[in-house]
Amino acid sequence: MADQEIKQAAELLANGQVVGMPTETVYGLAARIDLPEGIRKIFTTKERPFFDPLIVHIADASDVLSVAAEFPKAAKVLAEKYWPGPLTMILPKRADINPMITAGLDSVGVRVPSHPVAQALIRAAGVPLAAPSANKFGRTSPTTANHVRSEFIAEKVFVLEGGDSSIGIESTVLLIKVVGAQTELSVLRKGHVLRSDIETTLREASVPFQFVDVVDKNVSPGHMKHHYMPAIPLVLCTDLSKSIELLKSEILARLSEMPGEIEEVKIVKPKGEIHKISELLLPTDPVLAARIFYSELRVLAKSGADCLVLYKRSEHLSERWQSLYDRIEKAASLIIS
Ligand code: TXA
Ligand code: MG
Repeated sequence: MADQEIKQAAELLANGQVVGMPTETVYGLAARIDLPEGIRKIFTTKERPFFDPLIVHIADASDVLSVAAEFPKAAKVLAEKYWPGPLTMILPKRADINPMITAGLDSVGVRVPSHPVAQALIRAAGVPLAAPSANKFGRTSPTTANHVRSEFIAEKVFVLEGGDSSIGIESTVLLIKVVGAQTELSVLRKGHVLRSDIETTLREASVPFQFVDVVDKNVSPGHMKHHYMPAIPLVLCTDLSKSIELLKSEILARLSEMPGEIEEVKIVKPKGEIHKISELLLPTDPVLAARIFYSELRVLAKSGADCLVLYKRSEHLSERWQSLYDRIEKAASLIIS
């Protein structure tokens, strides 16, 4: 990556603009956390509702207290193991963090990306960068610079080139809450770092912890039923023996009964009859499958098919597949069993 482009991106950020930033998970739409104009532009460019908080990206774990009020022991241990990398930790926020970033919550999501271009950009900006995935709200996340460009054609977003995102799905989001002597953890979004990885790491470091289920939806905003949707309907089918004709008629019937949108995300429906269905085939390795999933969704959505189908196979039931299936289920307009 040319230093010149990093410099240009840092200047745009300093002028309150947003910039497309490659990371190892997905590409982000970045703005400086200290410039409200840039932060607002993230929401307007993405057409994202203001209730959905943003993740703040720092260059190094030693910068965490520039955004978080505390860095509890469990978070330190996890940072040592997984930062830089695909783990976002939700920590108590500092009072001076713009509430637009945190959607008014008293916590902030923090992550240290490992991608060298993201690293260089954060360091050139000299300020942490807030960045959600660089896609229109509810739609498929981008894993190449061209995905970002095609997402924001009218907005003409400047995008730094960083190749294909190696992980391909968003970071694991882990809420960390210290309550007295107890550390409570909740995985708010599954990702490449698994709950079992977190358990092992903390046990090895003899940090006491407890996983708790978050029941209060306000603690975990932005986790909609539908998300990541491609431009044509994706159908997840768990019945591998169903004939294509039966599948087509079930899809049409079921989708016609569904509302136009759910939780502000428009449900994608076929334009008329279903003439052509394309199958989204996944590699047998779940890490490789996650890497290509969003990209493949975009390619197939433009293949001239009226509808996409992905078959859930019995091999897809292990913990390693769960983070990808979380995306597949949300990207699907419909699940047929
Ligand atoms: O891998 C990633 O995390 C990518 C790259 C660009 O870093 N970013 C990303 O951001 O996926 P976004 O905005 O698409 O998803 C972040 C999610 C939000 O939907 C929100 O639910 C959760 O993280 N989040 C952020 N701050 C939070 C907070 N303070 N409390 C609870 N959840 C939070
Ligand atoms: Mg996103």
